[in-house]
Parts: sequence; structure tokens; C-alpha cells
Amino acid sequence: MAITGKERVTVPYLFQLKERGEKITVLTAYDFPTARILDESGIDIILVGDSLGMAVLGYETTLPVTMEAMIHHTQAVTRARRRALVIGDMPFLSFHLSLSDSIFNAGRFIKEAGADAVKLEGASPRRLELVEALVETEIPVMGHIGLTPQSIRKMGGFKVQGTVEEKAEEIYNGALALEKAGAFAVVLESVPEELAAEITRSLKIPTIGIGAGPDCDGQVLVVNDMLGLSTGYMPKFVKKYANLSEIISKAVNEYIADVHQGQFPDEEHSYHLKKEVAGPLLEKLKEKSGRIDE
Ligand code: KIV
Repeated sequence: MAITGKERVTVPYLFQLKERGEKITVLTAYDFPTARILDESGIDIILVGDSLGMAVLGYETTLPVTMEAMIHHTQAVTRARRRALVIGDMPFLSFHLSLSDSIFNAGRFIKEAGADAVKLEGASPRRLELVEALVETEIPVMGHIGLTPQSIRKMGGFKVQGTVEEKAEEIYNGALALEKAGAFAVVLESVPEELAAEITRSLKIPTIGIGAGPDCDGQVLVVNDMLGLSTGYMPKFVKKYANLSEIISKAVNEYIADVHQGQFPDEEHSYHLKKEVAGPLLEKLKEKSGRIDE
């Protein structure tokens, strides 16, 4: 059954989309106005990614992002959401200590921030154990393998993963293991499209690609990148659908010029006292100030 109007996107609905061969659309968002626009535009999933750190908070990596920041921004997104499934991204060190701490942190996304699911990076045996525990706690989990930005120190940079046989097989096995552990979807980041296509064919759960070619069940991009709000290095997989930096810069320059030239605010953007109030009131205020006009 297709989702219409105000119905919410759910995990079972995503499985239906995969079964029907219909693509799943995902974008990140970190604030109320952006989330509202994405939701009203009909995006299926809004991911409150820990890319927050780089896209919005000005860090060079995602590593400094805290649970508090993620909860704060996820709350803003869920306040705006009507239809889309909202996923909160577990930040570095929020799911690496004890199992109970990790379940507690994942639960905060659901309980305090109103998210529908969480995403976490990696497919190591401990990660898989955590995915099982979260699913058992009724928290839907999206996996994330390939280039996992929280492992950037180990990987030596934002590099394409799975280009050699052994690594490609490791990623393939990780995807299968995440499905077995109960993940409802898996993000494949920066991997060769042939590998992503084979993983997509092998899994019952949807794959969501970012730099993983066209055969994944869905696609995700960082919203600030695709709208042209990000500066600096841009990976090859980013397609810029707008240049908002240019649009904002033009508007701000016009505003500065208008204010400097006294053209803003004009009549249209100003309030007035009624004539019968203005005369006596201004006289009274002038007297009160003791001002004597020349
Ligand atoms: O943090 C993020 O935005 C992500 C996506 C790029 C998948 O993990």
C-alpha cells in the first residue's frame, strides 16, 4: 500500500519499497526549517547525521560530536517532521563503552528526541552484538559500513573502501551480518558500485548508498553539500542541486547596501502611530526628555 498524504513512513513501508523496486530517498537535516522543507517535499527518511559536526558545527571530522548535540538537533528535526522516518546517528563514543550505556544512549534518541530509529557505524562482532541488543530493546537500527567517518584515524582519511578483494569481501560479509543481527537497512558509503550492487541483490533489507553507485535501494546525501552550503573539499559523489551560498551571499550584500543607503526599512516595512496619537504623544515625550529642538 502506498503512503499517501499524512501517513508516516515506517520500517515495514521501507521493506515494501525494496520489494517493489521503488527507490528510497534520504537526506540529512539538523534543524527545524530544513527538516520541514524536506518533509513537505516528500523525502522518505531524514537522517540527523553526526555529519552535523562538519556540516553545521565547523569541525574537521565527526569525532567531537556529542550525544547532547545530537539529541538537541534531533529534537528540532522531529518537531518539524510530519511524514518522514527520522533516524538519529549515534556519535563517536556513544556506543563503544558498555552494552548498557550504548542501549541507554540509543534509547535517548527515541525517548527524548522522538526519533524512529538509530544508525551506528561498523560491523565488528561487538557492534553486531549491540545491534541485536537494540533490536531486542525494540529500537530499529540502520547499519553503516564501507567508509565509516568515525574510523577516519584508522582508515587514514576519507578514502574509497573495498577496492581490493579482501576488503570488498569484508564489507560484503559485514552487510550480511548486520542483516542477520536485525538491522532494518544499511548505509554503504564510498564503495565501488559493483560491490554495492551485489550487496543490494544479496540482502532482503534495503541498502542506502552514498558514493556507492545507482543500484542501491536508496540514496542519501548530506543536505548542506547538495544545496551548495558546504565549503572546502567535496567528495566526487556529491551532486550540487543548488548554490545556496551564492543566493545567501547575494541577499546579504543587498541588505548591507540597502541599510547603508537608507533604503531599508522603507514605508512597506515600517509601523506608524495614528495621527491623533502621534501629535500629543511626541510633544509629551519631547517635554519629558527636556530636549529643545533648534
Ligand atoms: O552523518 C551522516 O550524515 C551520515 C551519512 C552521510 C550517511 O552518516
